[in-house]
Amino acid sequence: MSAQAAPAASDSGSSATAVRPVVVVGAGTMGNGIAQVFAMSGRPVLLIEPSEAALKKGLTSIEKSLGKLAEKGVITAQASHEALHRIATCEGDGIRFADCAIAVEAVPEKIEIKRSVHQMLDQKLLPDAILATNTSSISVTELAAITKRPTRFIGMHFMNPVPVMQLVEVVRGLETSDETVAETVALAKALGKTPVVVADRPGFVSNRVLLPMINEAAFALMEGVADREAIDTVMKLGMNHPLGPLALADLIGVDVCLDILEVLHKGLGEDKYRPCPLLRTMVAAGRLGRKTGRGFYEYR
Ligand code: CAA
Repeated sequence: MSAQAAPAASDSGSSATAVRPVVVVGAGTMGNGIAQVFAMSGRPVLLIEPSEAALKKGLTSIEKSLGKLAEKGVITAQASHEALHRIATCEGDGIRFADCAIAVEAVPEKIEIKRSVHQMLDQKLLPDAILATNTSSISVTELAAITKRPTRFIGMHFMNPVPVMQLVEVVRGLETSDETVAETVALAKALGKTPVVVADRPGFVSNRVLLPMINEAAFALMEGVADREAIDTVMKLGMNHPLGPLALADLIGVDVCLDILEVLHKGLGEDKYRPCPLLRTMVAAGRLGRKTGRGFYEYR
């Protein structure tokens, strides 16, 4: 698995695919990766994150990831340096909301937080700008309805780790226009990614298929079918998965997995999506995976 450098940023025009600045809201695991790939494609990025500590952590992750890519020769040291300097963290740093072609929201999967972010972005961005959400579980149509621009609203679902993973699941809400879909697809390609357009249904395609596997692995562990290493080894060596499902849950976040399963269970109404009680217990204990240092495995 290797990260790809985005194609040279030579496109132009007034659409979201042009090399106009972008806003990314949220500097967590997904937000910092999204900001990084936009910056690597030559676009100035306004990265908004209210928590000073989270912003610092996010910028450190970007610097580390760019360093890794430069070390491996995927990008030059100069390109790495320039990408980092394309990221501004407040509006006064030279990028105005009114200049931005698109905003991508990547804040926690809580509807109240997303509501206030989308209301703010809807007010600040020009009417033709695209508003995209990186939600992995909340309905894109429901989020679009918060704004006055449902035709310019879309899901842009990146995968973790963003600089490495090739897919962007482009989620079309009920009111999303054909132009918005076309521009978002072109933009994802301009980032060096492969877009796949899907409909707005619970879990879209990625998480509707992935999360039941992770849930089943948690049930197998809880029932003592095998230990964590054995479960992950079966899936890695038997099915050629790069990570076992339990290690992948730690990468995604056990809390995020639980949230997505709740959405699948509620939205699709079938018992097969019932979250494993072990996931609830782990979340209650704060064992959220890599980000807290402990999930199914321990991390230093
Ligand atoms: N930035 C730059 N490079 C990175 C990186 C980052 N953030 N993270 C990993 N890499 C690079 C490493 O440098 C390494 O490069 P080389 O092979 O050239 O040395 C390469 O990726 C592999 O990394 P590692 O050797 O550290 O570990 P690995 O072989 O296990 O690979 C992985 C890591 C790419 C994450 C791999 O385990 C993998 O593909 N796992 C599956 C990830 C996955 O399924 N993601 C989707 C999650 S679902 C989701 O995101 C959606 C949702 O809504 C929940």
